[in-house]
Amino acid sequence: MPELAKALPCRKGELVFWTAANEGTYLVRNRHAGQTYQLGEEEHFLLARIDGRHSAEQLCLAFADHFGQPLSAEELEEFLDLGNERGLLQPAGAAATAGCISHPSAQPGGLQIRPTIRSALLQRLAGRLLAMLAAMVAWLAGLLQGAAQRIHWFRLSRLDYVARPNDVFIVTYPRSGTTWMQMILYQLTSDGSMDFPHIAEYCPWFERSLRSAHGFETRPSPRLFKSHLPYQRIPKGPCKYIYVARDGRDVAVSYYHLCRRYNGYQGTFAEFFELFLRGKVDFGSWFQHVRAWWAHRHDPSVLFLTYEELTSDLEKSIRKIIAFCGFNVPPERLPGILQRCSFSFMKQHETQFDPALETLWEQGIQLNGFLRKGCSGDGKETLNREQLARFDARFQKELGRTSGGPVRAPEPAVLTS
Ligand code: A3P
Repeated sequence: MPELAKALPCRKGELVFWTAANEGTYLVRNRHAGQTYQLGEEEHFLLARIDGRHSAEQLCLAFADHFGQPLSAEELEEFLDLGNERGLLQPAGAAATAGCISHPSAQPGGLQIRPTIRSALLQRLAGRLLAMLAAMVAWLAGLLQGAAQRIHWFRLSRLDYVARPNDVFIVTYPRSGTTWMQMILYQLTSDGSMDFPHIAEYCPWFERSLRSAHGFETRPSPRLFKSHLPYQRIPKGPCKYIYVARDGRDVAVSYYHLCRRYNGYQGTFAEFFELFLRGKVDFGSWFQHVRAWWAHRHDPSVLFLTYEELTSDLEKSIRKIIAFCGFNVPPERLPGILQRCSFSFMKQHETQFDPALETLWEQGIQLNGFLRKGCSGDGKETLNREQLARFDARFQKELGRTSGGPVRAPEPAVLTS
């Protein structure tokens, strides 16, 4: 390892540098030996400063200052060995050009590439190969994801959904107020009671429910659907579409928290934000989603609302929705609807809007069944005669001779204390 305080060796005087065609790469030619090498930006930076006047410490500081990341003594050592191997540095003991000072650790005959350095080089090579492999895997994963998406679009385009004029699609880019709008429409089209297991029961996620084969045909009108489909993909029919857009910056923050909480995303917000800007998140580009729907905001079948107008004047927005959908809502119900659509009320009933439970509901799992009835005697009611007999026989065998005899069987087949 170079002693950091000592001066470094000197590059050879016969070297000439120039910039290569690729940005950030340079070429160095040894005029005497007639050899040319390509250098990266960091290598060029180092070689240009190995002029015999700098100590290793100064070079490391300059490097950190320039690139914003430190250069370790091992990396510098590795670089010196490489330079020496390629004949770019003065051999130890040779007369220094322009006041060059030879490498303090140089042995007569030039610097040797030691096995440890060799293995460092091999490690670096292996690292690069692994990075290439990872990039290929990511590329393949992208291809597969794209193919899966296309299959899904294909299935959507062939599905036998028949639109009804009073169907209402709530369409959004995620985190824009979808659930809120689901609740508003639920309140406007029902008695508003909160006895449903999940809002998806009343207003399913169109494209996902199709995947899990929930039929829509038996649903009574007006059917409500939530969807995140882009305009190009939404089924077109004589139905209505309420699109809710939200400030993209707020969407990004809200989406980030959702991904961390529900999708196991581990990155920072800064990393997520880059993905969001590039549309490399589920549901793609927010910009494209909003732009395509915005272009249709004046279509008679589209009501374009914003999350911000819902928050600033919910009543006005609800009146717009009533007029657009042609609902018949007695005015005296409005205060109750407004109260139930408030954030605080929905927060109190959060589980009925929870996306994790929605997924279970889509899989056909009955929600709100964990705390079921809370009473005794259901077993006797439910088991048939043969099952009761088999249970009792087994009870006698396993527990009938329990010491102290605290057991009464077969009736009732319970342990008594
Ligand atoms: P935040 O994460 O910023 O709180 P979606 O249903 O499209 O996923 O949107 C979720 C966002 O809408 C969340 O935003 C959520 O808090 C907000 N939201 C849901 N119900 C709301 C309500 N009644 N009032 C205001 N915001 C609501």
